[in-house]
Amino acid sequence: MLILISGRGSNMRTLVEACRAEGWPAQIVGVIANKPEAAGLAWAREQGLETLALPHKDYASRETFDAALAQAIDTFQPDYIILAGFMRVLTPGFVQRYTGRLVNIHPSLLPAFPGLHTHAQALANGVQAHGCTVHFVTPVLDHGPIIAQSVVPVLADDTPDTLADRVLETEHRLFPQAVRWLAEGRVSQAADGRVTVAGVASRLYVWQAEVKHHG
Ligand code: GRF
Repeated sequence: MLILISGRGSNMRTLVEACRAEGWPAQIVGVIANKPEAAGLAWAREQGLETLALPHKDYASRETFDAALAQAIDTFQPDYIILAGFMRVLTPGFVQRYTGRLVNIHPSLLPAFPGLHTHAQALANGVQAHGCTVHFVTPVLDHGPIIAQSVVPVLADDTPDTLADRVLETEHRLFPQAVRWLAEGRVSQAADGRVTVAGVASRLYVWQAEVKHHG
């Protein structure tokens, strides 16, 4: 498995740590970042993982960047490419090349709130449930067969930051679980694209804390 990041890399970290601690039948073969200054890249390097910085700014177009990225990915020969906070829109050609092997985590309950600023979008819409989604990537941004989701409550005094923290806490639980299922070869897709995971009845993680109801 190969992990792609753009920044902090806290999700990548939970994957690396869970893979090691739980002895997944998989290996994380490397970490690629499109930003050389990504903090997660330094952490990965310290862990002895193979890392590569591929600055998208060095490329004139999305197509040329994606071609270079694909070339770099293929040297690692990964079964799965895990997008863990990789903040780049990928070209359809790139996505099609890795159909069924590209997995993303998005901080909303898809199909609600694709794109950026998902926590602010959730607050602006007044939804009472928010969360995150692990899904296979398709050419449509933040869209694709859902592997697992987490749900958190939206609280009355939430700001985008407090909501983001609550969601991130569940990302760190959901993502390692879902990627472990992939590593174990338990994830399959029906002809209609829908996902099943062998031996797993529910693929929903519910954030648990005492929620005070007022009134
Ligand atoms: C996460 O919330 C992820 O879902 C989103 O960007 C954030 C990345 O955080 N796409 P990190 O780099 O994994 O710490």
